[in-house]
Amino acid sequence: MSEVLTVNYDEKPCYDIIFTDNFGILGDKISELGFEGRKVCIVTDSNVKPLYANEVLNVIEPHCSFTCVYELPAGENNKNLDEISKVYEFLIENHFDRNDLLLALGGGVVGDMTGFIASTYLRGIAFIQIPTTLLAQADSSIGGKTGVDFKGYKNMVGAFYMPRLVYMNLSTLKTLDGRQYASGFAEIMKHGLIKDQKFYIWLLDHIYEINDREMDTLIPMLKKSCSVKKAVVENDPKEKGERALLNFGHTLGHAIEKARNFELFHGECVALGCIAASFISWKRNLISMDDYYEIRDMFVPFNLPISVDNIDIDEVINNTKSDKKVDSKAVKFILLNKIGKAFIDTTVTEDEMRKALEEILWVEDNE
Ligand code: GLY
Repeated sequence: MSEVLTVNYDEKPCYDIIFTDNFGILGDKISELGFEGRKVCIVTDSNVKPLYANEVLNVIEPHCSFTCVYELPAGENNKNLDEISKVYEFLIENHFDRNDLLLALGGGVVGDMTGFIASTYLRGIAFIQIPTTLLAQADSSIGGKTGVDFKGYKNMVGAFYMPRLVYMNLSTLKTLDGRQYASGFAEIMKHGLIKDQKFYIWLLDHIYEINDREMDTLIPMLKKSCSVKKAVVENDPKEKGERALLNFGHTLGHAIEKARNFELFHGECVALGCIAASFISWKRNLISMDDYYEIRDMFVPFNLPISVDNIDIDEVINNTKSDKKVDSKAVKFILLNKIGKAFIDTTVTEDEMRKALEEILWVEDNE
């Protein structure tokens, strides 16, 4: 069981995304890409290594002259230049050259860091994304954004650098913690909301299969979700315009994430941000009240929050100003014209943000 999508860059085929339920053909793909007999370093983290590193090693060893595993400490707080330097040292000590290959085996942090190392080590070495979380499969492994956090700012230092392949073994989702799975799903729902109403309806029609992680549903779901992202990044690979639509739910989402000291998961904050942006869209008469409540309530069966407590609204609004989605003049918001059609808006006022945050703020007598 496997499916493929090819992502273009500069109107030429650039890399394939493989959707499958095992690691079986990864070795053959490495050979097909021209890395037969080369050195391969699997970069993973302390959570994922015990689960999948040996399985991946077994599949690739027959195809490579040398294999090794580098274990990053797990967690966003380790996504920094100090940890990156240690990987450079490891690659130098093991004599990796520009014809060798890195594999990013893990979630978004591993993918972003490995991609950044690949973009800079010897001015560029090839890498393959092997995302093992739904968040990384739905979003961060596609489109070539790589980087690290810097002095409290998320993804402040990085590069656009394309992988040679994205290999998704969706059976890795079977071991994913329920909250992590729901968090990844928020990005999938986002793709339906911004670009594809039919896909959004398909997701609502498959709640049970999605929550049960049925492979027959996961493969078409990820393929459709990635085809939405593929179309956007092909049109605008370096986020000069349209790619910003992928930030739907992220302006207030990131601001809430920061205000809650990163205790909430990224996708949980994205869900809250999508609800807040939909609320603003409703109040501007862009979508109907029924659409707004439908969008809000559809996060519930997918185990995502529709309200948040312990936030200071002024702090959240303030956080939007230090986010990268701010250009020199205004906060960049993504709003909806209808379900499946988003647009960029730079005129959202603090008052609109405040009302949207009041709407999602959990207070006891709401219950
Ligand atoms: N995560 C949004 C993007 O890839 O542009």
